[in-house]
Amino acid sequence: PASTARTAHGGLAVGGVGLAEVAERFGTPVYVLDEGEVRERCRNYREALPEADVLYAAKAFLCRAMVRWVHEEGLGLDVCSAGELESAVMAGFPPERIVLHGNAKSPRDLGTALRLGVGRIVIDSPSEIARIAAAVGPEGRQKVMVRVVPGISAGGHDKIRTGTEGQKFGLSLTDGSALHAVARILSQPRLELTGLHCHIGSQITEVKPYLTALRRMVGLMARIRDSHGRILPELDLGGGHGIAYRPGEPALDLTTLAPRLRSTLTESCAAARMPVPRLAVEPGRAVVGPAGVALYRVLAVKHTGDTVFVAVDGGMSDNPRPALYEARYAPRLIGRSSTAARRTATVVGRHCEAGDVLAAGVELPGDTRPGDLIAVPVAGAYHLSMASGYNMVGRPPVVAVHEGTARLLVRRETPEDLRRRDIGA
Ligand code: LLP
Repeated sequence: PASTARTAHGGLAVGGVGLAEVAERFGTPVYVLDEGEVRERCRNYREALPEADVLYAAKAFLCRAMVRWVHEEGLGLDVCSAGELESAVMAGFPPERIVLHGNAKSPRDLGTALRLGVGRIVIDSPSEIARIAAAVGPEGRQKVMVRVVPGISAGGHDKIRTGTEGQKFGLSLTDGSALHAVARILSQPRLELTGLHCHIGSQITEVKPYLTALRRMVGLMARIRDSHGRILPELDLGGGHGIAYRPGEPALDLTTLAPRLRSTLTESCAAARMPVPRLAVEPGRAVVGPAGVALYRVLAVKHTGDTVFVAVDGGMSDNPRPALYEARYAPRLIGRSSTAARRTATVVGRHCEAGDVLAAGVELPGDTRPGDLIAVPVAGAYHLSMASGYNMVGRPPVVAVHEGTARLLVRRETPEDLRRRDIGA
């Protein structure tokens, strides 16, 4: 993250606030979010792709402040449930700038989308077509897109690859089901097909898969024109833009991606004699991931055989990503300086299973001890949004740091919160 700096006492500062101070004031575990960095990342997207719609993928991290920031920075929003949609609209986000996704939209998802006037609904299966048309009612007309599987394998882990057949999302380009869905939508007077969508995967660090996807999508748009005489005005290439979780790791370079998307789009549309559609992208992780840091307090240090276990006061309930995707992080000691030799340690959580590992084989000072603070950088995306109530530990708060001040955005989940839904019957 660009904004981290050292404070006078050797600790780490984000947004002009010492992380140790945040831990002291708000307790641990805690997620710290650098507002300036979120805004800057939004702006980078707007500047790199001024002709496109940039839709922030709310599933990465959502709270009222985040909704305001992305709105103020000129982004749209991608949601995939009535809950995300309502939270965004209640926080003041204009519904017409929101796109609804989902491979299994519930009646409440669709009802809420239509009632609030969502900008686009992305159709993911044939059965949705008639359902949406019926729900629109005789007076209305809903803008929709079709999610296409362009047959591209990309992404940081099997569980987050969505560009090929054999996974649940989208309609196949190669077996004709995407084209078939398009025909059915075009015959529905209650639906207005504005364009095609694809999302090939997540944590992709290379430009090439996006260019291949783009060419194939333009090819499909040309086929739609040929067989239906319809030129679709929009093309949404989804998100998935990868970030570096550890120093030295590659990230998708937006300043490379943007001009290459532009030139590939121009070329392939020219070759197909098609007008250039309006482009959209849906970054989630790349907007908020590097702007977040998770802070933990060390509770126990144990030497077992060759391994040093450093156990902290959070774990898989606030960060399930290592367990789910074998995600790797670079935790570091903060709040005091240490001259002790570094040794290899495994940072584990407090939950009651052996898989509760935050980071294995990391270098930490040999004198790391209970009471120390551990910071896990790049914790802004898919941490809180995927946090659970496991072991009734309670989800951490979110603290925004900006221009030297820290403020609470989301409070800590309390035991009372966790018990509230248990009505005891
Ligand atoms: N658009 C659609 C339709 C998506 O399904 C997603 C993510 C995005 C955009 C945003 O992707 P991003 O730019 O954030 O990679 N929980 C996993 C990531 C799952 C992504 C799901 N869909 C993780 O923690 O790595």
